[in-house]
Amino acid sequence: MLPSIFIYIISCSAIAVTSASNILVFMPLPFKSHIRGFQPLFEELTHRGHNVTVVSSYPQNRRIANYTDIGPFIPKGHERNVMDSIDMNFLTSVFSVWDIGFKFSEVLTHKSMEEFLRTNTDSFDLVIIESCCQEYTVALGHKYNAPVINLAPAMIWSSISKWLHVPSTFSYIPNVLLKTTSNMSFIQRLKNTITGILQLYVENYLYLPKMKEIMDTHFTYKGWESRPSLEDMLNNVSLTLVNAHYAIGISRPYLPGVIDIGGMHIKEPKSLSVDLQTFVDSAEQGVIYFSFGSSINLNHLPQEKLNIFLSTIKKLKQKVIIKWTPNSTIELPQHIMTGSWFPQNDILAHPNVKLFITHGGLHSLEETVYFEKPVVAVPFFGDQFLNMKYVEKTGYGKVVDFSKMTEESFGNSIKEVLSNPTFKKNVEIQSRIYRDQPMKPLDRAVYWVEYVIRNGGAKHLKSDSVGLNDVQYFLLDIVFLLLIPIVCLIWSCYLFFVKITYKLY
Ligand SMILES: *[C@@H]1O[C@H](CO)[C@@H](O)[C@H](O)[C@H]1NC(C)=O
Ligand SMILES: *[C@@H]1O[C@H](CO)[C@@H](O)[C@H](O)[C@H]1NC(C)=O
Ligand SMILES: *[C@@H]1O[C@H](CO)[C@@H](O)[C@H](O)[C@H]1NC(C)=O
Repeated sequence: MLPSIFIYIISCSAIAVTSASNILVFMPLPFKSHIRGFQPLFEELTHRGHNVTVVSSYPQNRRIANYTDIGPFIPKGHERNVMDSIDMNFLTSVFSVWDIGFKFSEVLTHKSMEEFLRTNTDSFDLVIIESCCQEYTVALGHKYNAPVINLAPAMIWSSISKWLHVPSTFSYIPNVLLKTTSNMSFIQRLKNTITGILQLYVENYLYLPKMKEIMDTHFTYKGWESRPSLEDMLNNVSLTLVNAHYAIGISRPYLPGVIDIGGMHIKEPKSLSVDLQTFVDSAEQGVIYFSFGSSINLNHLPQEKLNIFLSTIKKLKQKVIIKWTPNSTIELPQHIMTGSWFPQNDILAHPNVKLFITHGGLHSLEETVYFEKPVVAVPFFGDQFLNMKYVEKTGYGKVVDFSKMTEESFGNSIKEVLSNPTFKKNVEIQSRIYRDQPMKPLDRAVYWVEYVIRNGGAKHLKSDSVGLNDVQYFLLDIVFLLLIPIVCLIWSCYLFFVKITYKLY
């Protein structure tokens, strides 16, 4: 018995152990929520013995052993006013994503960034990038001769899935920029197809050339002249970690090199600060938590809309915690607590919290499902509409349309979600589905990162279709060939009948 356990332990460790590696994370663009969602992975990698260097616009505010921050590189005027994005439709939002890519590439002109890119003395065993709006970052895999892992901030859309040859079938896989679920009407499928074609093909002519230009201007390390094309390097990414999970979004086909790690950032709840704990514990009617995440500042909203939020909330009998820094002139009643930051994870975990008023961002929804809180959401831009369509479909929350919002519609949604137990029941079911996983998302992410390091890349996880062009992939040549005899047959039948009828008359 004992020897076999011994052998078992040895063989397990032979699989699991990956020698300490030097890992570079390069995601310099100012997308705060993206880096905050993946940061627990970078930290966990240091606990597993790796040395992690993170180039980003949001350095940690505490020291972590074997974790080096390089940055920040925040460009001027990066804080977008949410009202600029609010009227976007499915077409303008595609172009707006390209525009963000062009505009934010300014981070590369930052002095310490130029220094980092110029240095030729450091070496890395693995490069982790986020290709969204910064495809040129993949060049660092070539610079360090290291495999590349890509991080996707949401369910992969055509701009990302095309490099992996993961199908983004337009009939039922909605683009993250659309306001729909998989059950699409004719018009929605049309919009989805147009968005998909823009990202699959048009992007290669209107957007990628600029990304290449940026790459050739800024990523000029020793030996860059012999670099493969940007397309080849993107095709060559070893693994893609995706902030998605079917309990929060959609079930769809993937290749083995695409791993869902949605909810990886969720932590076991810690106890609240004394202030918060007293506030939450003393709420006889329960607490509502209200936060629009890191990218939406309530002070940027039109005054009339802010007034709708406030006057509705003032009338509630529940206590309310709002992530917001109000002007000093605004007087708020006792049952409302505001602050520039709150431990959202720990607040949502508290049993006395009854409802989450959110913008419908993915991280927030992952947490709310995990901690079984129904939601009322006011989506503003990006994937927030799509996320909320899935919430409504699953039945654990309601959406309020910001442009048409009134005190009545906002107030009624809150009342309905609080008073109808179906919402709570549905989120409990969804939570059970989400929690029932063979491995915690963070452990899964670490496993696959180390897998890529152990195997020096993961070519074998990629699709063999990557070398095919569209004519071959969609078998258009075969279809054409098979159509010839059919067309000939129909044509000869036609001639034959024309002859017969001619003879008859
Ligand atoms: C860890 O990374 C930092 C920053 O890139 C580097 O200065 C240091 O030499 C690395 N340590 C080891 C042991 O490789
Ligand atoms: C940091 O890395 C060094 C060298 O790899 C290692 O000896 C040390 O134990 C690590 N520290 C921590 C806290 O993991
Ligand atoms: C693909 O990645 C591997 C390492 O994972 C590297 O050795 C190879 O040169 C890369 N090829 C291209 C075309 O980028």
